[in-house]
This record gives sequence, C-alpha cells and structure tokens, in this order.
Amino acid sequence: MAYSDKVLDHYENPRNVGSFDKNDTSTVGTGMVGAPACGDVMKLQIKVNAAGVIEDAKFKTYGCGSAIASSSLVTEWVKGKTLDEALNIKNTQIAEELALPPVKIHCSILAEDAIKAAVEDYRKKHDASVETTN
Ligand code: FES
Ligand code: FES
Repeated sequence: MAYSDKVLDHYENPRNVGSFDKNDTSTVGTGMVGAPACGDVMKLQIKVNAAGVIEDAKFKTYGCGSAIASSSLVTEWVKGKTLDEALNIKNTQIAEELALPPVKIHCSILAEDAIKAAVEDYRKKHDASVETTN
C-alpha cells in the first residue's frame, strides 16, 4: 500500500520520539494504548506547566508507519494546547491531515485514544499530588 507523503515524512523524521519520567506525577501524564486488531502499541506523554498548558510531548510507538506518523503528528499538535483543547483532537483530523486510507483509520484512533489517556493520567496523578502536598 502506498503511504502519503505526510505519513512518510513523519515516519522517516518522527518528531518528539522519547519519554519523560513517568514518576514525575506533578507535570507528566502518560497514555499507553494498544490496537487489538494489529497488536500495535503507542505510548504518548505530555508535560504540563503550572498554567495547565501542555509544554512538551513525547511518544514511543511500536507499530505501522501510519501509527508512528499519527503519534508524531499529535505530539506536535498538543504543544501549546490546554488539556481541554488536547481532548478535542479528533482522529478524523489526524486521518485527514495524513490522508490515511480506510484500513489505516484505526491507527489515527490509537493516537486520539493515547492523548486522551495521557490527559486522564495527568489529571488523576496531579490531583492526587496536589491533595497530598496541601
Ligand atoms: Fe503491522 Fe500495524 S498492522 S504494524
Ligand atoms: Fe494498526 Fe496501524 S495498522 S495501528
């Protein structure tokens, strides 16, 4: 199957590959999701500042080119966004930007799920750490 130029660009030059310390409960949120259909796994992390804005994001994806491109794209998109804005990212926007074919739509859903999981994880841990330090 032919990948679009944008998928190839992100696949060959993935942005923001890496990870943050997941034990940093006050600023880091980690989302780990898997696609049962193909076995691909995506880990996406956000670093949130005191104002509730995502300052940085990193990912590690074990999977196909479209999954890698989707996670790379999403780490670029979430930077500078609030948590609520990040939750509004839709897999359809990712699929459209990367021109994903129908069989690869689930790769973009994985990226949407990963960012949602990262925000949820951040909120859970952050709320807990605020409670214990106050
Ligand atoms: Fe082969 Fe996703 S189906 S890596
Ligand atoms: Fe399964 Fe891409 S083929 S995530």
